[in-house]
Amino acid sequence: MTDSPALPAVNREWHLVTRPVGWPKPEDFALVEAEVPTPGDGQVLVRNLYVSVDPYMRGRMSAAKSYAAPYELGKVMQGGAVGEVVASNAEGFAAGDHVLHFFGWREYAALDAKNAVKVDPDAAPLSTYLGVLGMTGLTAYAGLLRTASFKEGDSVFVSGAAGAVGSQVGQIARLKGASRVIGSAGSDEKVKLLLDEYGFDAAFNYKNGPVSEQLRAAAPDGVDVYFDNVGGDHLEAAIGSLNLNGRIAICGAISVYNNTEPAPGPKNLARLIQTRGRIEGFLVGDHYDLQPQFVEEVGPWVRSGELKYRETVVEGIENNLEAFLGVLRGDNTGKMIVKL
Ligand SMILES: NC(=O)c1ccc[n+]([C@@H]2O[C@H](COP(=O)([O-])OP(=O)(O)OC[C@H]3O[C@@H](n4cnc5c(N)ncnc54)[C@H](OP(=O)(O)O)[C@@H]3O)[C@@H](O)[C@H]2O)c1
Repeated sequence: MTDSPALPAVNREWHLVTRPVGWPKPEDFALVEAEVPTPGDGQVLVRNLYVSVDPYMRGRMSAAKSYAAPYELGKVMQGGAVGEVVASNAEGFAAGDHVLHFFGWREYAALDAKNAVKVDPDAAPLSTYLGVLGMTGLTAYAGLLRTASFKEGDSVFVSGAAGAVGSQVGQIARLKGASRVIGSAGSDEKVKLLLDEYGFDAAFNYKNGPVSEQLRAAAPDGVDVYFDNVGGDHLEAAIGSLNLNGRIAICGAISVYNNTEPAPGPKNLARLIQTRGRIEGFLVGDHYDLQPQFVEEVGPWVRSGELKYRETVVEGIENNLEAFLGVLRGDNTGKMIVKL
């Protein structure tokens, strides 16, 4: 076993205590002190450096059956993280290696090396393996290019446009020749960022008035592609502005994640007949075959600054929960990251 000395006595980790109803409350969670685990055969012990908080985690806090198993009550939650190997019992891994894995929400994790992917801190900042070059980046790439069948000349509307996925969708569309890129976000500062830094052609604050009216003004010639991160009235508005043969990729529905009653569906689905429109949901997990192509195409844009990104970084494991709640509230611009 290779290891670095000086491990602390305790490992702090976040447990789900009760399943939230509506908006999650601090009492639904507990920051628990546990022992730093010992890596078994074939395992590595990782000190987490950057931990991801993502909207999908809200779904895993519920008992409802979904594509990912619910978090277990009284157990540490999971999520993406990047850390440094501090002890290794696994061939091919040594103390000092940096790895991407799925055991976030804690300071130290012992995990099977087969579930760890080495990442290079010299090739890109470590946090970007959780965001612009990681899961959220691939979500944008796969959803836009594969699910929405984006092609040059399309007019593209994306909601949640200042967030991790949305900001990348709009910029990839621009870089690949969209005729018009329109974004919506929840503050005037975010709208300004879309227009001034990310090169969107039009953007609006969805809190400033009805989405359908604001979208019609921002996209007078309609939209060919809608990348949906939020659902609700955004989806209905996009159907209302959809062009002939338009495509809608359903990525997320964050506006309804904390609802206690099912949200009403769009009232204007019949418009899909007239437009021969298509709505299709997707999960990034089904599209990892695109990862090499994604890194090859998007990596250089990120390095050259043609594709810009922001991260909102919250410090300390004790603030992991608050960072997660902040994503649901819209406190973040770009990827929300917890730095330990
Ligand atoms: N299908 C997949 O495989 C997949 C993978 C990753 C993510 N997703 C989904 O993609 C979406 C974006 O994820 P992300 O990681 O990039 O998060 P994000 O956009 O960085 O953060 C979430 C954002 O949602 C916005 N929001 C919150 N409540 C809202 C509401 N009621 N109406 C409109 N916007 C609201 C907030 O921004 P504002 O300030 O603009 O309101 C917040 O910053 C989420 O729905 C997520 O579940 C899906």
